[in-house]
Amino acid sequence: MSSRLVYLETFGCQMNELDSELVAGQLHALGYRFTTSADDAHVVLYNTCSVREHAEQKVWSRLGELAQRKASEPNLVVGVLGCLAERDGVDLVKRMPVVDVLVGPGELDKLPNLLDNALRTRESLSADPAPEDPNARKGLTSAREIALQGGSSRRSTTLAAAADSLELLDLSRSVSPLDPSDQPSKSAYVRITRGCNKFCTYCVVPFTRGAEIHRPPQHIIDECKMLADRGVIEITLLGQTVNHYRFEHAAAVTVGGITQPQKGRSFTGGHRRDPFAGEQTTTFADLLARIHDEVPAIQRLRFVTSYPRDFGDDVLEVIRDHPRICRYLHVPAQSGSDRILKLMNRGYTVSEYLEFVDRVRHFLHQPEIARPVGISSDFIIGFPTETDEDFEATASLIRRARFKNSFIFKYSPRPGTVAFDKLEDDVPDNVKRDRNTKLLALQNEVSDQVAREYVGHTLRVFVEGPSKKHQSQTRAREQQTHHHNHSHHGTVSLTVSARPTPADDAACQSACSTAAISPEPTRDHAEPSTIQYCARSDTDMIVFFDAPSPQAGAPDLTHTFAEVHIDRVRALSLFGTRHP
Ligand code: 5AD
Ligand code: SF4
Repeated sequence: MSSRLVYLETFGCQMNELDSELVAGQLHALGYRFTTSADDAHVVLYNTCSVREHAEQKVWSRLGELAQRKASEPNLVVGVLGCLAERDGVDLVKRMPVVDVLVGPGELDKLPNLLDNALRTRESLSADPAPEDPNARKGLTSAREIALQGGSSRRSTTLAAAADSLELLDLSRSVSPLDPSDQPSKSAYVRITRGCNKFCTYCVVPFTRGAEIHRPPQHIIDECKMLADRGVIEITLLGQTVNHYRFEHAAAVTVGGITQPQKGRSFTGGHRRDPFAGEQTTTFADLLARIHDEVPAIQRLRFVTSYPRDFGDDVLEVIRDHPRICRYLHVPAQSGSDRILKLMNRGYTVSEYLEFVDRVRHFLHQPEIARPVGISSDFIIGFPTETDEDFEATASLIRRARFKNSFIFKYSPRPGTVAFDKLEDDVPDNVKRDRNTKLLALQNEVSDQVAREYVGHTLRVFVEGPSKKHQSQTRAREQQTHHHNHSHHGTVSLTVSARPTPADDAACQSACSTAAISPEPTRDHAEPSTIQYCARSDTDMIVFFDAPSPQAGAPDLTHTFAEVHIDRVRALSLFGTRHP
């Protein structure tokens, strides 16, 4: 078992982060241990993303480095999990023979077996090397462990007939023991749907993650309760089109005593109420209300990512009437041009999108008590045939919708998609870059205006922990005084975000909420007896405030709620004073 030290690195979206967590939990329960350093590991796993080329390149370069290492360490086991594995399949292994294990996102439940096989093969090879085998001499084995959905990737078509073993992976979370050395987290993701049926023409997700399926509501609620019992107070529900969630009880199928996830049959009645809501059907609105009411220990309930169409008034009412559901919607618009939206197969027009934004504000905006609603978006610029006029239309949508932030991506042609096959990537890269910069500048202006509306109000914020400024100061102090404190908590997964980070693209940084943590420069009179905390409002605004330091005997405010009066805005973040 000593050879079962795993390094797991995660690329891409929150869904991948959750997959990694579940996979790590399973492997942990089987006796595997984790390391934060790839160099120490016997097993290196990459949970990959293929939504844009940039995310893929990182994996290719990591694999290139491992190929060198494997020449001197033939027993090293390398696994590629996730969307890149599914999309490229065995071609990936041909290009990178260093890869021993390949598992698509729809087959992750099979990883423990495949990994075990791969390790056993290594062990028996090293016990009985076969030098006449050229693969063995190169440090390779011809045996590969592969689980992909392949051509049948729209897996859920057979769901009614066969047990959905992937559901067991989600369910396994409740039985996998936590590493006692790990700090239990206060925030968690819970999957409610998997896959996607939208087939936007630029997007690989419907091919890599397969058809949309909806998990049984009781499984979701039990998972939320189990997490709450472990101390989690903030849950983010995940789905590619999360608001399409809908479970029809009359059609439920049980296999081996377990209710099976259901092929997605979303309600397409626009913003009307679902007439079958209630006893027969658990709609997305029903699910939110049930989690809110049945798991009151969850102080903050969020969900991402929403699809702009089919977002019912019932959902908005539930958010309005349930105080622990966050007033934050991430609803990618992708473009502000009807012509481009059509080419993207998005299924709505700009005026329909704006009607949706107006409806959201109508239901949820309460400026008088500083409970506005935070709406954020994604945009793809430089989609094939995008003209200056199309681009101006996108800029105008940003102005009109007043997003609190937007994630802006340059179009990246993805093999396997309709756009890749049918539309030439004809917007030159310098034009894409120029539009990217302009749109970010505009979004920053809008974000700054949105942030300024909070000044003078008091917000109830959830404290995430000491700010990065504070952490770096503490580190600097520790280094000066040679008090190194290596407290490795066996971090299971490192994430390379699919969202732009400063390293990805400096210009993207300030529009990106997660990267916008840009605390104030140190003030000379800053007392070591105070600490700067970083917190978040339920509208997803980042808030910094100072408070007495736990090192000076004050209570640690991390993972508690605080009332903060907002004094000013800097770099799109809010700064305030805590009410005692
Ligand atoms: N090129 C650029 N951006 C893309 N996205 C998805 N596919 C592509 C692509 N081929 C963006 C969309 C989506 C986000 C997660 O990634 O904006 O909302
Ligand atoms: Fe991709 Fe469109 Fe599905 Fe989102 S809705 S995952 S962009 S296909």
